[in-house]
Amino acid sequence: MGAVSARPDPPPAVLDVAGLSVRTGDHALVEDVSFHLGAGERVGLIGESGSGKSLTALAIMGLLPDELSASGHIRLREVERDLLSASETERSTLRGDRLGMVFQEPMTALNPLMRVGAQVAEVLRIHGAVSGREAATDRARDLLAAVELPDPERIARRYPHQLSGGQRQRVMLAMALANGPDLLICDEPTTALDVTVQAQMLKLIDDGVAARDSALLFISHDLAVVATVCDRILVMYGGRIVEAGPTRALLTRPRHPYTEGLMAASDLEAVDAAGRLPTIAGSVPPDGRFPDGCVFRNRCPRGDDACQAWPGWTGEQHDGVACWYPSGSGREAGRG
Ligand SMILES: Nc1ncnc2c1ncn2[C@@H]1O[C@H](COP(=O)(O)OP(=O)(O)OP(=O)(O)O)[C@@H](O)[C@H]1O
Ligand code: SF4
Ligand SMILES: [Mg+2]
Repeated sequence: MGAVSARPDPPPAVLDVAGLSVRTGDHALVEDVSFHLGAGERVGLIGESGSGKSLTALAIMGLLPDELSASGHIRLREVERDLLSASETERSTLRGDRLGMVFQEPMTALNPLMRVGAQVAEVLRIHGAVSGREAATDRARDLLAAVELPDPERIARRYPHQLSGGQRQRVMLAMALANGPDLLICDEPTTALDVTVQAQMLKLIDDGVAARDSALLFISHDLAVVATVCDRILVMYGGRIVEAGPTRALLTRPRHPYTEGLMAASDLEAVDAAGRLPTIAGSVPPDGRFPDGCVFRNRCPRGDDACQAWPGWTGEQHDGVACWYPSGSGREAGRG
């Protein structure tokens, strides 16, 4: 008889990322990133600007710029081949079919010379979901209506520059959901939106994932939004995942000093007498070169000589912390 596990089995993986690194020349911008997304799971990826969130997403999509190279393993549900060793033809078939993404900069991802209705129709036709021009146009209009664009008939005839930022993001969401992807990646999908439109967009994303038992990788700076949307959170800093765990546990009992700093920086009750929020000391290195060993050690309030070596993971890879002295371990006392 097998050993009885105290932990429930994780949901079957839709996406499994193992040891992913992204490099420019000999410099790692993303290093040894591993995580999985289960069916129906909504997972947040948070961290300051420059921490490697978008590059991680682009590596999964197979859309890294030519000057960057990726190594490691990326496996998608029911796809035999590791995505990193798939050909460009195979990858472009998967994009828009099994993988959908709402990009951080919608203007760079939409074709400026093509009406948005035709762009949605093209995604449907290329991937074989709908055959025939007329059927694709009708279905595209339905999708634009499904993402609650007012007067979808009229919007479909517009070019991207004739839409507001929020409307462009909805068009991208319509394209990302067009073929019922296994994985939806949303990179800062609501940053430019006012609160009401943001709430509508989040509901559309949530409905899109629920309808298809897909997985969601949700990238955001906004902890309040991530807390609303996500079941689990990955915290990224310096190209590494430094902490991962279920949303509530991670937000109420962060273990990594960086996560603790993020929480303090977003805790409105922590505003001091001068009206300032506590912030994390120092800043992300402007040249993107983080320290060797623990990437956070030049900003950490409790590092010591041990931190000149990368700490590896305490706990499990998919639900743990990368720190020599994590909070709650009893080892953090007396540092600093
Ligand atoms: N093509 C490139 N060549 C060299 N460096 C790059 C390239 N693209 C991104 N970088 C660098 O890689 C690091 C991670 O970039 P990335 O866009 O993934 O950050 P991010 O976490 O998404 O930040 P933000 O929150 O600002 O969107 C940054 O230091 C960035 O300057
Ligand atoms: S490993 Fe050391 S420097 Fe890095 S976060 Fe932990 S205590 Fe701080
Ligand atoms: Mg980004």
